[in-house]
Amino acid sequence: MSDPSVAALTARPSLGVTALGTYAPERVVPNSEFETRMDTTAEWIESRTGIRERRFAGPDQYTSDLGVLAVRDLLRRDPDALREVDAVICATVSPDALMPSTAALIAMQVGLVGAAAFDLSTACSGFVYGLSVAQGLILAGSARRVLVVGAEALSKIVDPNDRNTAILFGDGAGAAVVGPVPDGYGFQEFVLGADGNGGASLYLRCVAPRLPGGFEMSQSVGMNGREVFKFAVRVLGESGTQALAKSGLTSADVDWVIPHQANVRIIEAAMERFGLPMSKATVNLDRYGNTSSATVPLVMREAIDDGRIQDGQQLLLIAFGGGLSWVAGTMKWWAGAPSLHSRTPEEVGAWA
Ligand code: ACO
Repeated sequence: MSDPSVAALTARPSLGVTALGTYAPERVVPNSEFETRMDTTAEWIESRTGIRERRFAGPDQYTSDLGVLAVRDLLRRDPDALREVDAVICATVSPDALMPSTAALIAMQVGLVGAAAFDLSTACSGFVYGLSVAQGLILAGSARRVLVVGAEALSKIVDPNDRNTAILFGDGAGAAVVGPVPDGYGFQEFVLGADGNGGASLYLRCVAPRLPGGFEMSQSVGMNGREVFKFAVRVLGESGTQALAKSGLTSADVDWVIPHQANVRIIEAAMERFGLPMSKATVNLDRYGNTSSATVPLVMREAIDDGRIQDGQQLLLIAFGGGLSWVAGTMKWWAGAPSLHSRTPEEVGAWA
């Protein structure tokens, strides 16, 4: 006899991304800028991380400002995109404040007062985590569509003189609407996880001075780079493989791996574990560095705009971050809405 709960799950509606917008601050910070204030070289940064430059928000520009600009980009591409949005999630590790939530501040400025709004704190895993939470809210009947924003002003929470962290991070934002898509498209499976035992590898003090167990935290981002590196390579490979298996797929079915952009060597190691060439990974960390929860939408936007990501293609999203946390998701790309396919020259002109 079939299990009715399983039947209900398999009959779930097709949900996916129905709009996407991004924003990167204007100020470009090349590696050479760090040479003047710490013991490093532009060459070391590029060869050990793949990063050549990143963007920093202006002095009065905070995470909610970047998030609002990403939503405005989405609306410029698709003015109708926020119709039926009943909830706003902001994935961020650099919120404007602990309260009010950055999600509520963004909602207020984009015409979504009254929608549910909350922040999601899984650092660099946050945007892809948020897609899965959005899917859950819709399946539970709590929202018709959900706006998921990944926004970070990391330059405000990093010690500018710490060569272990300052060179890695940048600022940026992405915004996606999750909602119904035609059958056969959209989200397939997500794998989410976290392990607080790794908390001391990546941390930022807030209320408590120390972690359970006594580890003293710093007032700016602290990181054990080698530990995070090893963790990242392991969980990206494992969770990505699990998400593919849950979807009845293998890596051979994947058109594009869309990884969190932390270090090109981490992406290379993950691709090797999938048995896939680097040409199947979307990479833009050379120009943006690690923008935490904004990396995945930023790199997706680029790959859509230049025509790499196309209708019907199989995507694998993989990310890791503070927590420590990880997430992988499979998705068949639907390009049927205005902001989800590459731009015509006329459209590019209209937006210039
Ligand atoms: N310039 C010059 N030398 C440096 C720098 C720098 N900026 N930073 C470290 N070094 C030195 C170290 O002190 C060390 O010197 P030693 O051998 O005398 O001790 C040497 O370079 C090698 O250090 P490693 O830490 O082994 O360097 P590695 O090749 O591992 O690169 C890095 C360091 C880039 C941080 C790497 O470990 C990494 O990318 N880790 C993952 C970080 C990450 O992904 N963070 C994500 C955060 S996600 C989130 O949720 C916010």
